[in-house]
Amino acid sequence: MTRIFSGIKPSGHVTLGNYLGAVRRWVEVDQHRAEALFCVVDLHALTVDHDPARVRRLSRQAASLLLAAGLDPRLCTVFAQSHVAEHARLSCLLECVASEAEARRMAEYAERAGAARRAGRGVRLSLLTYPVLMAADILGYRADEVPVGDDQAEHVELARELAVRFNQRYGAVFVVPRVTLSPVGARVMDLREPAVAMGKSSASAAGVVYLLDEPEVIARKVMAAVTDDEPGVSYDREGRAGLANLLEILSACTGKEPQVLAESYGDAEALKRDTAEAVVEALRPLRARHAGLSADPGYVDGVLREGAARARELARPTVDAAYRAIGLLPPG
Ligand code: TYM
Repeated sequence: MTRIFSGIKPSGHVTLGNYLGAVRRWVEVDQHRAEALFCVVDLHALTVDHDPARVRRLSRQAASLLLAAGLDPRLCTVFAQSHVAEHARLSCLLECVASEAEARRMAEYAERAGAARRAGRGVRLSLLTYPVLMAADILGYRADEVPVGDDQAEHVELARELAVRFNQRYGAVFVVPRVTLSPVGARVMDLREPAVAMGKSSASAAGVVYLLDEPEVIARKVMAAVTDDEPGVSYDREGRAGLANLLEILSACTGKEPQVLAESYGDAEALKRDTAEAVVEALRPLRARHAGLSADPGYVDGVLREGAARARELARPTVDAAYRAIGLLPPG
């Protein structure tokens, strides 16, 4: 059976980009068609300056939002990365397979390290090795597919290269995974800055819709989206990025093609109104379920505990095999 692995980093509040680019497909498609694992990758949240209490809170909130979005622990495994030691164990080996130069080439590293330096902060070593830990997340489960938004595709590509390299050097331990992207919503852009992706850690929240924003806040953010001065509505990603983003968000919520939607609007205001309403409606059931779950943290913790036990069982034999293959003495 196909195995799927994906993850979400509790470094900020979960956004509409996370939902449309990844989580919604995990819920609607992936958990039904494969053996799927979805992970709150909390170790990754420590790669930039962090507040321990906030990471703890956001980790539980991310888990609860995944369940509220519709991940069903009877169908898939939901767990926290730090609860399964195999991720760190394997990362340590993969650091001996990856090169420093290839880690430095990652666009996300360049962007975040640049931002940290500009702000006069140091760059954590873990920010550089982050994609190697991500490769360990994937390879430890022998995952066939990794459903992500397109900003993460370069990291999955590195995981593929490391799998091939390890297998060639030390023996066939890993499955070479492939990335799967959402047909729509793979890159939701910031509503105020349509040239950059909508991100959890954006400097300004004005262009970012969070799943837990109140409906009025969502409507206000969408109505204030930046478009352009040309009259009418057309779908042109390069030339009219703001409009294209709204059309893609509306498309992701309604299932209609962005080009077809563009033809049915005479002006940006009407498009914004309908997009705001569609987003609010798409998120309404999730918000309601999340309210119920956050009143019952014991349930969420129980799901994570059982998920970690299952994940450990799946990853341990592969990670043990990698330890043997690379030349480490088996424990007596
Ligand atoms: P993270 O937490 O940044 O994002 C979680 C998922 O949401 C997608 N995404 C987006 N999709 C469309 N438009 C956007 N604006 C947008 N923003 C985020 C991301 O592509 C991702 O699929 N490094 C990963 C987490 C991770 C992981 C893994 C993923 C760690 N280990 C192993 C897959 C497999 C990350 O920071 O995702």
